[in-house]
Amino acid sequence: SKARHFRWEVGYLLWSPDCEENVAIGINGQFPGPTIRAKAGDTIAVELKNGLHTEGVVIHWHGIRQFGTPWADGTASISQCAINPEETFVYRFKVDKPGTYFYHGHYGMQRSAGLYGSLIVDAADDEIEPFAYDGEINLLLSDWYHQNVYAQMTGLDSKPFRWIGEPQSLLINGRGQFNCSLAAVGGANACNISTGQCAPVVFRVLPNKTYRVRIASITSLASLNLAIGNHKMMLVEADGNYVKPFTVKDMDIYSGESYSVLITTDQNPSSNYWISVGVRGRLPKTNPALAILNYGPNSPRKLPSSAPPITPTWNDYAHSKNFTYKILSRQGTVKPPTKYDRQMIFLNTQNKIDGHIKWSINNISLVLPPTPFLGSISYGLKGAFNAQKPPENFPRFYDVMKPPQNPNTTQGSNVYQLKLNSTVDVILQNANALAGNVSEIHPWHLHGHDFWVLGYGDGRFTKKDIAKFNLKNPPLRNTVVIFPYGWTALRFVADNPGVWAFHCHIEPHLHMGMGVVFSEGVEHVRNIPTEALGCVRLNFGPDQAQRIT
Ligand code: C2O
Ligand code: CU
Repeated sequence: SKARHFRWEVGYLLWSPDCEENVAIGINGQFPGPTIRAKAGDTIAVELKNGLHTEGVVIHWHGIRQFGTPWADGTASISQCAINPEETFVYRFKVDKPGTYFYHGHYGMQRSAGLYGSLIVDAADDEIEPFAYDGEINLLLSDWYHQNVYAQMTGLDSKPFRWIGEPQSLLINGRGQFNCSLAAVGGANACNISTGQCAPVVFRVLPNKTYRVRIASITSLASLNLAIGNHKMMLVEADGNYVKPFTVKDMDIYSGESYSVLITTDQNPSSNYWISVGVRGRLPKTNPALAILNYGPNSPRKLPSSAPPITPTWNDYAHSKNFTYKILSRQGTVKPPTKYDRQMIFLNTQNKIDGHIKWSINNISLVLPPTPFLGSISYGLKGAFNAQKPPENFPRFYDVMKPPQNPNTTQGSNVYQLKLNSTVDVILQNANALAGNVSEIHPWHLHGHDFWVLGYGDGRFTKKDIAKFNLKNPPLRNTVVIFPYGWTALRFVADNPGVWAFHCHIEPHLHMGMGVVFSEGVEHVRNIPTEALGCVRLNFGPDQAQRIT
């Protein structure tokens, strides 16, 4: 294993991801940021300089569990203070497991502003992956808004509420085309891709080979569906874990998820093919994103002879559930403990505080404190966050099929304290939003752990559902979706000392409070860099900290 060192500077860029120029947050003058490629067992060191002149920054390494380095998780107010402008922070952590990962900003809505990139971990030299391939294609999927994130945040916080709406474009590896058609060469609404920043990505392949296509979604809002013209895909990896292979024509992907599929280039080699990405789960107002699968030796500019594959209808939830429920772990994957030590039921609701619209979990809408939890918990600081235990269930009479009877909620920075090495079950319960007959998809992501997905169901979760949990081959993941009016059950072992976020990966939902914080075994955490501990550096350190025993 190797040490891999990177020097990055985060900065604002004038960029045209979808052929319209806007401000993006990029790294080293690039959008998306550079791809990190490593081997399992390597240590990554990223020396991150904040070149944003008026705001702090952090970067989260999504899917990396950070065993022993919870301070490198890159979550503002949780694992560290945001890095001030002109300052540098060094993230140093081990990538212990091969897989398809990514990184992104985790402060304010900087992820939506473009602060993200791929992180790919190959198997270690002495490790064999359970499948073989001749080449690789990497698809980093995102969505793009023309309104800047400061305006978006202000609207979300305003009374009356202003929703951010649907994205203007979907991007593949940071490229999309707004309001124009790639297929209309030279026509009225042909895309002006002359900046190069919005030219479609071309993936060159050779006939009769097998390719591993890595797909990750880091969208702000959109749930996506991906299809490759004429090519079937065999799913082999999800969130850095091998799955029981199965073949599909199209696949859903939610924000925070990653997959690998294998494709065989066995189609007519004189043609190129479209890779198409469309919107799921919300009435689509955004054109699909397109990329080209270019069979060598065809010209990469040769347009595919067949139209882009059409993704399924946005509200065909049966299609989505069918795909999601098929994902099971590959034989040999570690199995969950057969019993849980603690079960928590998290009701997801849309609420109001003083007329401002929020999302809450068991009636608490998450707000982050100024002092990061990791520092305040390690040093037993009093008053750094809400000390009361947050609720682990919701009232029996609550009707998940109807808008909340009393929409008023409270805000809090309460922490779920987990016993180290205990087995925790979380049931994510979806419900009706503020408006009648509306319940949305929420992809939930857990930091610091993978979890087993034990089951899904429609309506309200009941005790009887426990008997139906899949303990035989539940998939291991770090992100899982709850379907409208449904529930999802997951289990994890709280074996990673640190403080960890668990939240909806839809950026505006997280901003509106849709998340919780777990802490476990913080007394075992060593070597937290002082700059991650407290945000007022000169006055904060082990000697000055006020300790409670
Ligand atoms: Cu990729 Cu806390 O998220
Ligand atoms: Cu959500």
